[in-house]
Amino acid sequence: FGSLAAKVHRNPSFSTLNSDDISYFKEILGEKGVIEDEDWLATANTDWMHKYKGSSKLLLQPRSTEEVSQILKYCNSRCLAVVPQGGNTGLVGGSVPVFDEVIVNMSLMNNIISFDKVSGILVCEGGCILENLIAFLDNQGFIMPLDLGAKGSCQIGGNISTNAGGLRLVRYGSLHGNVLGLEVVLADGNVIDMLGTLRKDNTGYDLKHLFIGSEGSLGIVTKVSILTPPKLFSVNVAFLACCDYFSCQKLLMEAKRKLGEILSAFEFLDSKSLDLQVLNHLDGVRNPLPPTMHKFYILIETTGSDETYDRQKLEGFLLHAMEAGLISDGALAQDINQASSFWRIREGIPEALMKAGAVYKYDLSLPVEKMYDLVEEMRTRLSDSANVVGYGHLGDGNLHLNISTAQYDDGILTQIEPFVYEWTSKHRGSISAEHGLGLMKANEIFYSKPTATVSLMASVKKMLDPKGILNPYKVLPHSLSS
Ligand code: FAD
Ligand code: MLT
Ligand code: ZN
Repeated sequence: FGSLAAKVHRNPSFSTLNSDDISYFKEILGEKGVIEDEDWLATANTDWMHKYKGSSKLLLQPRSTEEVSQILKYCNSRCLAVVPQGGNTGLVGGSVPVFDEVIVNMSLMNNIISFDKVSGILVCEGGCILENLIAFLDNQGFIMPLDLGAKGSCQIGGNISTNAGGLRLVRYGSLHGNVLGLEVVLADGNVIDMLGTLRKDNTGYDLKHLFIGSEGSLGIVTKVSILTPPKLFSVNVAFLACCDYFSCQKLLMEAKRKLGEILSAFEFLDSKSLDLQVLNHLDGVRNPLPPTMHKFYILIETTGSDETYDRQKLEGFLLHAMEAGLISDGALAQDINQASSFWRIREGIPEALMKAGAVYKYDLSLPVEKMYDLVEEMRTRLSDSANVVGYGHLGDGNLHLNISTAQYDDGILTQIEPFVYEWTSKHRGSISAEHGLGLMKANEIFYSKPTATVSLMASVKKMLDPKGILNPYKVLPHSLSS
């Protein structure tokens, strides 16, 4: 398997933009929807980590499904490559052009179409920012079934296209369960209406699932129908310390068994993740526990409908865990401000890593009992040349292994890859739990998927996008995608 992105070549069958193309786009979108401004393009060409940079000369802002359809129909006929872009918070180099692909930015398609209070079904456009949907639903007494640190910028269309997991998957499950319908525009401009609002519909193949997690390589998500749970008012958050990884695992098993239906998050971070935030003076981050040397921290959230019952249940659980020696210290948030400051510790890690310099990010699904062995093996491999941190969604078996260094260095990269992928494959894990493959891991797909499965994926891609204009060089290995 090849390593990283550098070896990609521009597909020569793609055309280069000309002035007639620009005039056509202005005709369909108006002057305002056709962006050639250099500063704007510089931002849109660069990913959140400042690691991947394209050289697109054009960003288009459609306002409707019809406009997306016209854009793609034209790009397909001219063989112009396209990158769908949401909030550009993706972490695998999937949301920015590799070369001169046209950027289709979805932010103006941000309308809420309908909300049914009886069923909790929300229908909206793909460019709605997650935090705005959360705020809208809060007023209605509902919540979104997903939440993530990037909520202030990421869009629901981007979340669906990456099949984002996030902080509450342990409670509400993945988007494959919560998304009831989608409207997508295919590469040739055809609009596919799968925007059902039914919980149950077994009329043939459920094609919307193909687009959930396909990272903009099969179609552009223009509308979404999603099932939202009611907002429950009794929320408790505890920030706990464990002295070893085995205790974290046992605590997880106990939490699932003893907190049962009220458990809504089980997140973990090691002491190096916390040190990084404190060292980098991240706003509002402070360890609520006395400065004893703890190796691991766990954030547990419960959400239920009965304050007294939930609090007693959680306190009983914590007391038992303390007596059993599973937790060495802990704090239970006394109010909403303290609860958000506990969350800030967990959600602030990606930002703290960015402040610390260069970061090599690995987002892995692994058997929980093996997960931390990888972090320790990586520390031994890299000794003092890097800061290796481990955090993630322990409740879902999802480790975020991050290696932080002052600057990017090919020598370090060769120490990390392919070791990290081989290790994951050997333990039957996934090299992408929730971030996707993007450009970063397109060539590494075989570590997690058999050859026959990858070939079938390539056939699906060929059928839906025969010229390969949608998000080229991403997801599928380069040997199969052009
Ligand atoms: P972009 O970054 O713009 O795009 C991501 C991919 O989706 C690209 O391949 C793009 O082409 C495609 N795409 C975007 N919009 C559309 C559309 N409308 N139609 C078709 N394709 C589209 N991920 C998690 O899973 N869990 C987390 O907890 C989590 N936390 C994060 C925290 C931070 C601080 C950051 C920066 C990122 C985090 N992410 C997380 C990663 C990221 O995948 C998510 O932020 C989010 O799902 C991406 O949405 P976006 O709108 O920014 O999409
Ligand atoms: C998280 O869980 O914080 C996100 O997936 C982002 C990251 O892995 O850094
Ligand atoms: Zn995550």
